[in-house]
Amino acid sequence: MDIKVTKAAKTGTRPKDEDLGFGTAFTDHMLVMDYSVDKGWHDLRIEPYADFSMSPAAMVLHYGQAIFEGLKAYKTPDNKIQLFRARDNFKRMNRSAKGLCIPELDIDLVMDGLKQLVKLEEKWIPETLGTSLYIRPTIIATDPFLGVRSSFTFKFYIILCSVGAYYAEGFNPVKIWVSKDHVRAVRGGVGEFKTAGNYAASLNAGELAKKQGYAQVMWLDALEMKYIEEVGAMNIFFIINGELVTPDLSGSILPGITRYSVITLAQKWGMTVSERKISIDEILSASEDGSLTEVFGSGTAAVISPVGEIRYGDRAINIGDGTPGKISMKFYDALTAIQYGKEKDTENWVEVIE
Ligand code: PLP
Ligand code: COI
Repeated sequence: MDIKVTKAAKTGTRPKDEDLGFGTAFTDHMLVMDYSVDKGWHDLRIEPYADFSMSPAAMVLHYGQAIFEGLKAYKTPDNKIQLFRARDNFKRMNRSAKGLCIPELDIDLVMDGLKQLVKLEEKWIPETLGTSLYIRPTIIATDPFLGVRSSFTFKFYIILCSVGAYYAEGFNPVKIWVSKDHVRAVRGGVGEFKTAGNYAASLNAGELAKKQGYAQVMWLDALEMKYIEEVGAMNIFFIINGELVTPDLSGSILPGITRYSVITLAQKWGMTVSERKISIDEILSASEDGSLTEVFGSGTAAVISPVGEIRYGDRAINIGDGTPGKISMKFYDALTAIQYGKEKDTENWVEVIE
């Protein structure tokens, strides 16, 4: 497909791989598309990365009608560029769109646009293990209107960012804090959609966690404050008696694409996997009787992130010996081998950009 490309007059330089953090090294171009009721989604184009101009009354700024995605592109050893499960991200974006009254995207069209954008920005894709090109598709409501209703106009855009590790800890175990007073989302709400407001709702508890030396919050269910849901930017897995256990998708948890990938790999390896309710009390007693051997989070930004401590009130659950657990490592190695094209992708998860 032919899409209009306006090249940037000035281009930037990718930071050295060892200087890459998360979310600051933006590339030179972005993909943009507009929606109006009469034209539908139209005018898909690549433009220089630049500020948007919009009304201060734009509905997204007041009522948070915004959805986004997070996925990554990688460089393979034979210098190809590949996307990991990109179509699944756009499928999830369309689910979020339905949940937030936003018109759905034509997945083939945006995949085509994304591939052209990533190809144009090839020099921004770092190659060291742990680095990648992070892709952030976003849709925002743009009607200048202060009444509460769904917008009639929207903007879709994709920005790209060279990234390193999401956590300062890298692959070293992170410490997470369970809040007894805050909730992220409730069944029937928008917790299962990737919408801006879920992250706004998490900030207060996130800051409290940080002040106490914890990387993120582990959320409990909003109804009983008893069952584990997920972590700030990751789904969560436990190894209990050698079994892989993760909270089931209760309606208030983000259905993580890395989560699905971990479950698929585990089943392929013959592990017993249970998606079920897990109470914080069960984790406390599994820690006491020694049956809890590993905990890790899964997410696009963090990939696999071992958890070394869970704090719940005055109880600290310590997991492992301060180094990443064997099973967490196995998942990290298997996933990254597929993502970086070092291992054959038998699941059809990667898409090479020709
Ligand atoms: N849960 C939340 C709240 C997230 O923000 C993310 C990150 O996208 C995840 C889970 C993991 O999802 P995925 O594996 O699709 O990145
Ligand atoms: C991701 O893992 O892609 C996320 O979106 C997490 C976060 C940066 C919000």
